[in-house]
Amino acid sequence: MFNRRNMLLAASTAVVAGLVAGAPARAEDTVKIGLIVPMTGGQASTGKQIDNAIKLYMQQHGDTVAGKKIEVILKDDAAVPDNTKRLAQELIVNDKVNFIAGFGVTPAALAAAPLATQGKVPEIVMAAGTSIITERSPYIVRTSFTLAQSSTIIADWAVKNGIKKVATLTSDYAPGNDALNFFKQNFTAGGGEIVEEVKVPLANPDFAPFLQRMKDSKPDAMFVFVPAGQGGNFMKQYAERGLDKTGIKVIGPGDVTDDDLLNNMGDAVLGTVTAHLYSAAHPSQMNKDFVTAYKKAFNNRPGFMAVGGYDGIHLIYEALKKTNGDTNGDKLIEAMKGMKWESPRGPISIDPDTRDIVQNIYIRKVEKVDGELYNVEFATFEAVKDSGKTKK
Ligand code: PHB
Repeated sequence: MFNRRNMLLAASTAVVAGLVAGAPARAEDTVKIGLIVPMTGGQASTGKQIDNAIKLYMQQHGDTVAGKKIEVILKDDAAVPDNTKRLAQELIVNDKVNFIAGFGVTPAALAAAPLATQGKVPEIVMAAGTSIITERSPYIVRTSFTLAQSSTIIADWAVKNGIKKVATLTSDYAPGNDALNFFKQNFTAGGGEIVEEVKVPLANPDFAPFLQRMKDSKPDAMFVFVPAGQGGNFMKQYAERGLDKTGIKVIGPGDVTDDDLLNNMGDAVLGTVTAHLYSAAHPSQMNKDFVTAYKKAFNNRPGFMAVGGYDGIHLIYEALKKTNGDTNGDKLIEAMKGMKWESPRGPISIDPDTRDIVQNIYIRKVEKVDGELYNVEFATFEAVKDSGKTKK
């Protein structure tokens, strides 16, 4: 018979069953991370790399830190900043997350910044790379990179290696403009000349008409910035237009030769020289272990976005250890400032003044190693800070 007494009995049995099976952790014993990344659309490879890397880190290090259970709430913003803002708001207000993290593109990281400030919630930027981002909230800490870090270094390399005329092709939004401006600043200061400058749309770019202009301007090299996920399509069109046969080599920050896609780009990409923070071929033991574990878990090579996610979750774990599990936003940010550790990319730290990442930048050339395409590092610039901050 289905009466009130039976219902109560059923309910109490369910509670007991829940306890036996391991009751859900109490809210105060859980640390929640709202992970907002593009899992769909043109930037989806960024979200997948970050999500994978965080899963891998948590498998390797467990899901409990300083007595607290770590819960990651994954949200797909498709790299649309209006979505990012709405999701960040919901995560902070309804889910009461202790961190927001991810941010596949600059506009997404910027859209969340005022919410991080209002809520005093640390915003861990694991992907986006425009210099100004960390200036938009005192609660932002970055584990990715800035375009200024790599673009200035490849410019100096180009000057020293006899490249005199460069045509530029950059994605037409904030990080593309940073890449272009910081490259130009160092390249022209060293006597180089920009012979053509084209900007391509961020969404679904067709590179073909721009590549024809590149070819016609007869540069010694072309400087390219496209965001992670677009390098494969770019290289395909570069080869189809026969640019690899003209001797116009590609140089740039390493986004265009992201390890995630590199091995399928074909031989046209051989010889591409880029400056960047991470190569799957980085010869440290830690990176060898990271690449092996990532490949085993996800059947693909990790790229630089994966490393931004892996280091971002490490930063969260270590900050919580330092605060003894205290989730006060100000205490967490203080704990992160100046933190130093070894990443799969090499030694890194968080600049205590800017909350931005300090890291080695490597110059690399695409070569075949054991039949696979890799960015092989051949020069290292140590502990590079972001040079792109607003002068105060
Ligand atoms: C960015 O939007 O800041 C961004 C995205 C992907 C990259 C670099 C920068 O590869």
